[in-house]
Amino acid sequence: MLIAPSMLSADFGKLSEEIDKLNNTDCNYLHIDIMDGYFVPNMTFGKGIVESIAKQSKKPLDIHLMVKNTEFFINMFLDIKPEFLSIHIEEEIHINRMINLIQSHNIKAGIVLNPHTPPQSIEYIIEYVDLVLLMSVNPGFGGQSFIPNVLQKAYIVKKMINDKNPNCLLEIDGGINNKNINIVKKAFIDIVVSGNYIFSSKNYQKAIDSLR
Ligand code: DX5
Ligand code: ZN
Repeated sequence: MLIAPSMLSADFGKLSEEIDKLNNTDCNYLHIDIMDGYFVPNMTFGKGIVESIAKQSKKPLDIHLMVKNTEFFINMFLDIKPEFLSIHIEEEIHINRMINLIQSHNIKAGIVLNPHTPPQSIEYIIEYVDLVLLMSVNPGFGGQSFIPNVLQKAYIVKKMINDKNPNCLLEIDGGINNKNINIVKKAFIDIVVSGNYIFSSKNYQKAIDSLR
């Protein structure tokens, strides 16, 4: 299981220390939440801060856009060369075009579903994406409670992946901790995002180990 700590729960006053601490763990990616104050009621990092994170991080970036103007924000982050750049299905009506834009820069493109968004909404796009990210909280904040019925959706999406695009990865984001990780694992999740659980622990590596 691949682990992506969410920088939303980092101490922003000590960002450099936080990145170093994660560089010294065996986590796989740094998950970067980009929020615009419109699609979600919160704001996070702009390009300058993400550039600084990318420069110091030894881990590839997993950028999750929670924004209204998807194309504007895709263009903002292309030259940072994240491993993944993921966009919400609910906001963008020209999904194929956006996926092509991301992939034409040799970046893996992800599609994100809010907890209530049905799996059928990605039926005709799943074959073109590199990643499906299932939100297990309403996006906007760290430290929220896991919404369990997302796991039913995970089983359905995993079947779609197996049928249409077996190389596509399945990621889950929101409210993951050592108490619910076992049920999450059973749902064939490849990448687990975890913010509050990892950053509120004294030893990040131990928290990551406990998830694995
Ligand atoms: C929620 C973000 C998540 C969040 C996860 O809007 O997309 O990435 O930081 O944090 P936890 O694990 O605390 O729910
Ligand atoms: Zn996220």
